[in-house]
Order: sequence, then C-alpha cells, then structure tokens
Amino acid sequence: MKTLLLHPDTDGAIAQAGELLAAGQVVGIPTETVYGLGANALDGAAVRQIFAAKGRPSDNPLIVHIADFEQIYDLTAQVSDAAVRLAQAYWPGPMTIILPKASCIPDDVSAGLDTVGIRLPSHPIARAVIRAAGVPIAAPSANLSGRPSTTTAAHVMEDMDGKIAAVVDGGACAVGVESTVVSLAGNVPRLLRPGGISLEQLEAVLGTVEVDRAIRQQIGDDVQVSAPGMKYRHYAPHAPVTAVCGDPVRGADYISDHLTKTSGVICFDEFATRFETQIVHTIGRADDSAAQARAIFDALRAFDHTDVTEIWAQCPDDSGIGLAVANRLKKAAGFHVIEV
Ligand code: TXA
Ligand code: MG
Repeated sequence: MKTLLLHPDTDGAIAQAGELLAAGQVVGIPTETVYGLGANALDGAAVRQIFAAKGRPSDNPLIVHIADFEQIYDLTAQVSDAAVRLAQAYWPGPMTIILPKASCIPDDVSAGLDTVGIRLPSHPIARAVIRAAGVPIAAPSANLSGRPSTTTAAHVMEDMDGKIAAVVDGGACAVGVESTVVSLAGNVPRLLRPGGISLEQLEAVLGTVEVDRAIRQQIGDDVQVSAPGMKYRHYAPHAPVTAVCGDPVRGADYISDHLTKTSGVICFDEFATRFETQIVHTIGRADDSAAQARAIFDALRAFDHTDVTEIWAQCPDDSGIGLAVANRLKKAAGFHVIEV
C-alpha cells in the first residue's frame, strides 16, 4: 500500500482524510498529545486494521475521539455529573474519560471490556478530520506496538509507511505525551495513565483520585490491571534504558560515573556540557517538565539511528506533567530505575 502524506493547508486534504476514514481506511492524524492511528470507531473491520498495522495485542482497548461534546451521548448512556465537570474543565484537551460503553461500540474497540475511553482533542486538524469523517474515530498512538509514540508526521512514516492509507502532517505535537486516562466507571475516580492533564488538575475538579499502581511500578503478567496498555513493555528504543531519578545534580554525577564509550544520554539542558564525549539528547531544563514532555519521544526515537548500546536518562520528579514524563521514561526503561 502506498501511504499518502497529506498537507492540511492543501485544498481538499482534510476532506480526503475524512473520505478515507469513512471508507474504512486507517489514517494517521495529528493531535495535541501525539499522532493517532485513526479508523471509524463504529466499524469493527476498520478497527481491526489498526491492530494489524501496529502489531497491537487485541486485549488492549482503543480510545474513541469525538469533535464535539454532544457526541459523547452516542458512545455512553451514563454521563455522570463528574464527567460533565471534567469535560467542562479540560475538554477539548489531553484527557480521556473511561465510562460504561453504549452497545454501538464494537468489541474490537473496547477489547471486550464494558467500558469505553472517550476523548475530545483540542487540535483543530484532528477535530476537522473527525468532522469530515462524520463518525467517531478510534485511535491509539501511531507507533508500532512497544515503540516510542510518534510526535511528528515523520515519526509516523518511520513506523507506518506502506501499512496505512495516509498520514495528515500537522507538524510537531504541542503536548508531546499522551492524554491522561481517568476512569469514572467505578465508585472512585481512578487515574489509569498520567498525561497532559496533571493529577493535581484532576483532583481540583474531582477531589480524591486513586492512582493506579501500574503508573509507578512494574506489574506482573499475572496481575489484572485497569488499563490493559499499562502492562506491556512500551516506549522502548532498541538500546536498553536506565532512568535516573532524584536530585538532578546527583543524577548527572551518577551517570558520569557509569558511562562507557557507547553510552547515550538523555539529560536536562543545563547538564549537556557534562556529557560532551557522548551522543546526547537534551529534553529541556530540569524545572520545565512541559518542555520535557514535548521532547521525550523524539529523544527516545533518535537513538535508534545511532550505535549506542545503552541509554542513561535523567528523570523528572512526579509533580505536574512530570508524572507523565517520568512514567514514560520508567516504562521505556522496563522500570530499570536508579534513585539517587
Ligand atoms: O493522547 C492519546 O491518548 C493518544 C491520542 C492519539 O489521542 N492515544 C493513545 O492511545 O495514547 P493508546 O491506545 O496508545 O493508549 C490508550 C491507553 C491504553 O493504555 C489503553 O489500555 C487504555 O488507554 N484504555 C483505552 N480504553 C480503555 C478502557 N475502556 N478501559 C481502560 N483503559 C483503556
Ligand atoms: Mg500508545
């Protein structure tokens, strides 16, 4: 299959993406978090092509994307007060709400669960494409399963060229890590995946929010996890990663002490000069976790074009969007984490 690269400022590109989706094809679309691999969420056969293109395990459900709030009532019969308050606070934006699903959602989307993840993205191109398709769009991150997520159209082409109908090039993603996944399907709101909306922001609207333990630690294969995606090795470059958490100065010292000739380093900007002999990718200043979120997946992917045999990564603390950056780094490291 030839994968078209569509430029949204070209006449007819958005309409073409919408037509491909409406016809049951898979299209890469930019969102404010990461690129998504979209298909008609109401068409099981279309959705199965997403799983095939990604090599995604079929027990891992997909998020359904809508362009306008009212579409939520087509996807779930149970829009609680809490869901409305969350949506008013953070939609359109980088947050997915898990609710009991309506019967129109194919099992391929929900992976057999009785819930569905719903997201109203803020990216104008994402919303225009969803509107042009005329249906809700199921979309996981547009990477091969297990690889770092994609934050540019070039990343998507790297993983998906020849496997999907088209990619819409919307430039680099503004948030850079995926949406926050919060479940309102149980008695107490539960954070299943940290992301663009912080835990503190959720708590400001919901009060108490439980934090799934799969966010901070490795969960064994035998354990039932709330978000199936959290149990898989994820975000991993080819070379093994070690995440170094704690005080950044002590972390930089630790990394310096353990480098070999072929070590790569992911570090905060102010420490780059410490590692001039290595291949280094900086991800923003230590106190700027929003910048780190934008840079982290590109940095993880970049090492695959080099000969580094191991990667040392400075890891931010858990405040704000730092919780999401730290989660992605720890997962990329298979939870091989050093606390300094
Ligand atoms: O920012 C994002 O959320 C991006 C963009 C494209 O919107 N999408 C994304 O999708 O990250 P994906 O499939 O890579 O990650 C979705 C996560 C997985 O961990 C999945 O297990 C979980 O959300 N999830 C989806 N539906 C769920 C459900 N009904 N119950 C529990 N977890 C669910
Ligand atoms: Mg993903």
